[in-house]
Amino acid sequence: MENIILTGDRPTGQLHLGHYVGSLRNRVLMQEDPDNKLFIMIADMQALTDNAKNPEKVSSNVLQVALDYLAVGLDPKRSTLFIQSQIPELAELTMYYLNLVSVGRVRRNPTVKSEIEQKKFGESVPAGFFIYPISQASDITAFKATLVPVGEDQKPMLEQTQEVVQSFNHTYGEVLVEPKGVFPEKGQGRLPGIDGNGKMSKSLGNGIYLADSADILAKKVMSMYTDPNHIHVEDPGQVEGNMVFTYLDVFGTDKEKIAELKDHYRHGGLGDVKIKRYLIDVLEAEFGPIRARREEYAKNPEAIMHMLKEGSEKAQAVAAETLSEVKQAMGINYFA
Ligand code: TRP
Repeated sequence: MENIILTGDRPTGQLHLGHYVGSLRNRVLMQEDPDNKLFIMIADMQALTDNAKNPEKVSSNVLQVALDYLAVGLDPKRSTLFIQSQIPELAELTMYYLNLVSVGRVRRNPTVKSEIEQKKFGESVPAGFFIYPISQASDITAFKATLVPVGEDQKPMLEQTQEVVQSFNHTYGEVLVEPKGVFPEKGQGRLPGIDGNGKMSKSLGNGIYLADSADILAKKVMSMYTDPNHIHVEDPGQVEGNMVFTYLDVFGTDKEKIAELKDHYRHGGLGDVKIKRYLIDVLEAEFGPIRARREEYAKNPEAIMHMLKEGSEKAQAVAAETLSEVKQAMGINYFA
């Protein structure tokens, strides 16, 4: 059976190794299966819900995110890559869905709740931000997505979408498809930052980006948090919570060698610089080719924008079909 898969990213910055581990590499794998039809959305409309005064930050990153997509191997011939704001049908669907959801229900969304606290919005939370989970329900249902691969923090969005689908279908008739969330397995899909403080994130400034040069990547690895008590080479060192070993576990392919290095480090006599050099080699093996592809694509931004335009047109045709069914079911397709 065919899977329709929809997922996306807010274009508020370049994508980093955390995105790669948490979602990008999985998308590329899913793309290999001819039964999977992927829609990958650059969620600029959603990014604007808390960047309204700074639209340049969002618009300038659309191309950056597209470059990251292409560099890791998302293929516009097999997957539809598109820009959310270019599909007005999504905004239109949102208007109808909003009427099926109470303010109280929106207020209970735990992810939005903690984001409002984090950003210290209080009562001045932008209304568009407050209701972005409903807009996300439009993103998902417009394509009749069956699977939505996302991070753990997106669970409430999936639940809210499922409720919108149930309510819509119950009220107006069976039009929408209930999606399933696909979440990372326990302990997977969450890469800590190079400082070891929580997950890799732009706001924490602890990321390695797909676009980082070999030089910057090496510098970042050299500054990685290891074991603060491992001062002299001879000192026994700790592997747990040591970012170099954490990253080796995630990206290394020679598991035997990594086990040996851990053993040596624990017993003492293995310096941080040595293991960091090894990690740089490991990361270069995986991300060197990605960086090279990204640089190639970046030479021709017009071609990338053209690809996004074509993807957006394809996506719009699908969304328009769903919107037409929605209006038909609601009895507001007056001129059809
Ligand atoms: N909220 C998602 C994030 O921050 C991005 C997103 C927008 C999305 N619309 C979506 C993800 C629809 C999946 C489906 O990562």
